[in-house]
Amino acid sequence: MNFNLTHRPRRIRNNPSLRELVKEQQLNHNDLVLPVFIADQADVPQNIESMPEVFRWPINLITSKIKECQDLGINTFAIFPHIDPSKRDSQGTEFLNPDSLAYQAAKEIKHSNKEVTLIGDLALDPYTSHGHDGIINNDKIVNNDATVKILAQGAILAAESGYDLVAPSDMMDGRINVIRNNLDKNNFQNTGILAYSAKFSSAYYGPFRDAIGSKQKNIIDKSTYQLSPSNFREAKRELELDFNEGADILMIKPAEPYLDVISYAKNNFNIPIAAFQVSGEYSRIWAAHLNGWLDLDACANESILSIKRAGADFILSYFAERIAKTF
Ligand code: PBG
Repeated sequence: MNFNLTHRPRRIRNNPSLRELVKEQQLNHNDLVLPVFIADQADVPQNIESMPEVFRWPINLITSKIKECQDLGINTFAIFPHIDPSKRDSQGTEFLNPDSLAYQAAKEIKHSNKEVTLIGDLALDPYTSHGHDGIINNDKIVNNDATVKILAQGAILAAESGYDLVAPSDMMDGRINVIRNNLDKNNFQNTGILAYSAKFSSAYYGPFRDAIGSKQKNIIDKSTYQLSPSNFREAKRELELDFNEGADILMIKPAEPYLDVISYAKNNFNIPIAAFQVSGEYSRIWAAHLNGWLDLDACANESILSIKRAGADFILSYFAERIAKTF
């Protein structure tokens, strides 16, 4: 028997080419940014146990690694240094050393390769002995304004060493404004700011803290500066503040658990929207794959596609290289 249905949505799913024709989203390499870890004093790539297939790269191999990714069509990289523990202190002093690892890496990469786009993270956690993103008061609370002052100085070192975008990932109040003013004052009008605007206090950052060596005995609580996972309205306020303070790109992080926030940002701000699929989002898919429970590439692809569909113009993902190989 046949119903006389007016609407049969299945008609446009009848065969593969028809399905391709009506496809609403297609991932391509311009959607992807690869986060890259840099190793201090190493000659060979270092394994990160909680992040399969992700390595810390020694400076002497970084240029060829970047080139390899560019051959796959990935042209933008977010650099994260693993600072030697002996160089970490309570003030994160090493962040303002012009020869520090993250600045060295950018100089090295840009020296032979002007085409690449580099994103330099601005936060103190790779440099502090306590693993917080700023300097802490006696009451153990991160000091907002003192930290912002240091970040604005670091922004100059990052711009000088060749970073195209600086990316404050600290969630201090007012930092976009202060960083913008300092960049302008130092003639870096063309260095952009990719703002980690809605950065949630997430349990998914664990593997990243292994990667940069900032993990402490007890889980670090960053909830006096990062957003509560329950607060959507507060996230909107943070996005608005960063937009008004002059951010060039707004970022949401983590990505897949916060698709509502990505979608809101896309619909309300006429500047690019980025999303960071963080370490734990990567590792959970890998872990299920290693257990034989999920298909790695299919899940990686579906997760990144969802983030794009929600509204991200581009996505920072540790899967970037792997996914690019499938295009
Ligand atoms: C810290 C920073 C973090 C990440 C990027 N920058 C972690 C944190 O806030 O503790 C997380 C990235 C990831 O998990 O992949 N400034």
